[in-house]
Amino acid sequence: MSASAQPSLRDEVGKAREMALGAIAGAADSMGLRKVAAELAHKQSALNAVRAQLGKIADASEKKLVGQALSEASGAIEQALAAREAELSAREFADQVARERMDLTEHLSAPQWGAAHIVTQATERLEDVFIGLGFQVAEGPEVETDFYNFEALNMPASHPARSEFDTMFIEPFSDDHEANTVLLRTHTSPVQIRVMQSWKPPIYAIMPGRVFRRDTPDATHMPVFHQIEGLVIDKGITFAHLAGIIEAFTKAFFGNDFTSRLRPSFFPFTEPSAEFDIRRANGSWIELGGCGMVHPNVLRAGGIDPEEYTGFAFGFGIDRMAKERHAVEDIREMYTNDLRFLRQFS
Ligand code: DAH
Repeated sequence: MSASAQPSLRDEVGKAREMALGAIAGAADSMGLRKVAAELAHKQSALNAVRAQLGKIADASEKKLVGQALSEASGAIEQALAAREAELSAREFADQVARERMDLTEHLSAPQWGAAHIVTQATERLEDVFIGLGFQVAEGPEVETDFYNFEALNMPASHPARSEFDTMFIEPFSDDHEANTVLLRTHTSPVQIRVMQSWKPPIYAIMPGRVFRRDTPDATHMPVFHQIEGLVIDKGITFAHLAGIIEAFTKAFFGNDFTSRLRPSFFPFTEPSAEFDIRRANGSWIELGGCGMVHPNVLRAGGIDPEEYTGFAFGFGIDRMAKERHAVEDIREMYTNDLRFLRQFS
């Protein structure tokens, strides 16, 4: 190799280094920078081409100088890549934050108040009326066991009334249900048992809450809906007290021109049982719910001596009442969360 050719290799290193640094500085974004980095790492890059010739340099001191120039260039390039990468990604992150930023002050200038859902409004009104009649409010779990939802309510494993509740089971999925089988409660009646177990009579309780049934949604059914349960346990409670409370509630909730009636019916957890209807001012009737004297087996399951105490219970759907009150045609509309629907009642 001629003596003049060797310094030109160092020139080439210098040129390649300048080109590389220029390309790095010129990368407009981190994607572009990654492309530059890939090109620089390529076997055929200008620097790597010089590196490939290193072995052919005969003059040891020149070889050392070229080697040094190469490693300095690599170091400088590596540093420049890292610095530019940091700079670009910081800028890109700042851009992204600016782009995705929400202007929350926008909402302050035009205040919009939310309102309670009509089912919540109905529940709160029901609570107010019953609290006014001397009741206390209790709640129970939505995920229940077979024991509380059925067995303690006088529906043992093979009881035919169980099939009326299209139950959603959580576990086990098999058909052989036992007391500890876990399910979504099909009514608020299991809360009766929980209240009896944890309170001492006299008990005057209402228990509102969500209930679940394996039902296809249509204009009058939803698989998730709401009920309110009532329970009274005291000494000397009779069916007359039940009828009196239903009537007092009817007047307080619907108005003085409404009345109630009881029709004989059957529920496993009450004996005798009845259904109650409310008569509108125009003479038409609304079927509201079920009620009856608490069955001795149910009292026992709740740890209460049926020789000492008697009681009555009632239960009815809340969604239906909200639907009735606001003349909603299709119950599904209440759960689509369409603001145009919801704002009518705010
Ligand atoms: N749990 C019943 C249902 O979901 C309603 C009911 C009927 C509740 C009679 C009661 C009752 O407390 O005494 O269909």
